[in-house]
Amino acid sequence: MKILKDNKHIFENKNLCLVPTMGALHEGHIALINTAKKTEQEVIVSVFVNRFQFNDDLDFKNYPRDFEKDISILNRLNIEYVFFPDEEYMFPESGFDKLDAGNLGKKYEGNSRPGHFDGVITVVNRLFELIAPKTAVFGAKDFQQLFLINNLIFEKKYNIKIIENKTVRSSSGLALSSRNQHLSNKGIYQASFIYKSLNAAKDEFIKTNNLIDAVKVGTDILFENNIDLDYFEILDHKTFAAPKNTTKKYIIIVAAYVEGIRLIDNIQFEVGATK
Ligand code: PAJ
Repeated sequence: MKILKDNKHIFENKNLCLVPTMGALHEGHIALINTAKKTEQEVIVSVFVNRFQFNDDLDFKNYPRDFEKDISILNRLNIEYVFFPDEEYMFPESGFDKLDAGNLGKKYEGNSRPGHFDGVITVVNRLFELIAPKTAVFGAKDFQQLFLINNLIFEKKYNIKIIENKTVRSSSGLALSSRNQHLSNKGIYQASFIYKSLNAAKDEFIKTNNLIDAVKVGTDILFENNIDLDYFEILDHKTFAAPKNTTKKYIIIVAAYVEGIRLIDNIQFEVGATK
């Protein structure tokens, strides 16, 4: 496995599968890397904590960083490259494209974290420019991010295939996240009700076809467990906007705070389909 600080030895390689990460690797990231390996392309995992996607400087400073541990995980996975650039290389003073994630970038996650998605889209675009991968793998857990990256591919006409990897959860249903390590055992237990709330809302919606009732069933579970809600929305999976009569596939997205830690999750389903 080669650790690269720049793109000199990879840009000409036109058969790469990129897995972008901010490090602090867990089983969720590992699942993405295993999916990348199945493409039979050479796998490159980027590890870069992107300052521009943190709207809070303290959050950026406190973001878990353990490159040694990440490297030992990646070594075991037997991948070809780790891309571990310095900030000056990613964002040179000579200039780089600063992108705007548009209207959708200001909703849901973007509403509570102003500028977050502009930062995400900017760094992902930079990674795409530097590495020029054939495919890239992203997690369904950050669905709004994935949706905006698909928009980026469309707008910039990149010839990159995006693979969506399903959300990896602990046995309680809690979606794995680097942020979970800030939770106490009690917090971990409390946070498991987030996924339960999504499932309850989904079941209610399938039963009644009533959006308001379904949201109430879901949010009640959060309130009963003292989880502070930011948003809980049922959307059309294809448009990531309010559902219409024509909607076939839905997504329920949630953001909530447990012990002051912001957690997000979602569930996708088709009405008429079994669980
Ligand atoms: P990070 O939070 O490190 O996540 C890297 C990738 O892992 C993302 O595609 C994310 O959706 C995926 N992921 C995280 N937890 C997951 C889980 N439990 N199950 C499945 N996939 C999971 O997302 C980012 O970094 C950054 O915004 C990035 C895209 C790297 C740009 O800086």
